[in-house]
Amino acid sequence: MKIIMLGAPGAGKGTQASRIAEKFGIPHVSTGDIFRANIKNGTELGKEAKKYMDQGQLVPDELTVKILLDRVAQDDCKNGYVLDGFPRTIPQAEVLDSELTKLGTSVDYAINVEVPDDNIIGRMSGRRACLKCGATYHIVTLKPKKEGICDKCGSELVLRDDDKPETVKNRLSVYHDQTQPLIDYYNKKGVLKEVDGTIAPDDVFKAIEEILK
Ligand code: AP5
Ligand code: MG
Repeated sequence: MKIIMLGAPGAGKGTQASRIAEKFGIPHVSTGDIFRANIKNGTELGKEAKKYMDQGQLVPDELTVKILLDRVAQDDCKNGYVLDGFPRTIPQAEVLDSELTKLGTSVDYAINVEVPDDNIIGRMSGRRACLKCGATYHIVTLKPKKEGICDKCGSELVLRDDDKPETVKNRLSVYHDQTQPLIDYYNKKGVLKEVDGTIAPDDVFKAIEEILK
């Protein structure tokens, strides 16, 4: 099963993708997490990506597409995956489609997690992220068992560099310009599913389970 998560920054793509991955036994592939891991490890890729991410801009397609295609070519992706944060532009979606066509397959579901901009800023300032395993928490709505520590891997939780309100505003505007057109793109392909992302995370997941049943 190949699933794409669509939605604005902070809509809950990562939160839901990680649950889908766990329930269906497929990898959760987040381009944002891959970039953040590279930034943390000081790689050349990380240095390049950070220039864009800190401004709330997209990392150029050439870089992003290569990383994503390398990742999904790995053995653990052979039975499918859930993509979180990719594609983010029409050209990225077109490359993915053409690569999948070569393999005789296609995207099964593009799930759009719908949350209005007004809800997003508050969510982001309360988010705490694990840079080691990619798990995401919120200081009010989704607390870790022990404050500041990841439930899954025990690492320290941090406020992401790009979660400052100014940067979040840029990310939202980039989203509307470059990523929102993908909703229409996948609708035309007949694989688009919409879920309300403003309800509690457990209820969002129930709606997704209904779709994937
Ligand atoms: P990326 O890491 O993908 O960030 P994003 O799309 O901006 O999305 P977020 O991770 O911020 O939000 P999310 O939807 O995953 O929400 P979450 O589940 O954490 O990308 C970061 C940057 O990398 C980009 O800006 C770009 O520069 C670069 N990049 C990445 N991919 C790229 C690509 N393909 N092309 C080019 N550049 C790329 O939830 C948010 C918060 O809300 C959490 O605190 C969570 O606990 C809480 N929450 C979740 N669900 C709910 C709910 N239902 N109710 C209440 N709170 C909730
Ligand atoms: Mg995320």
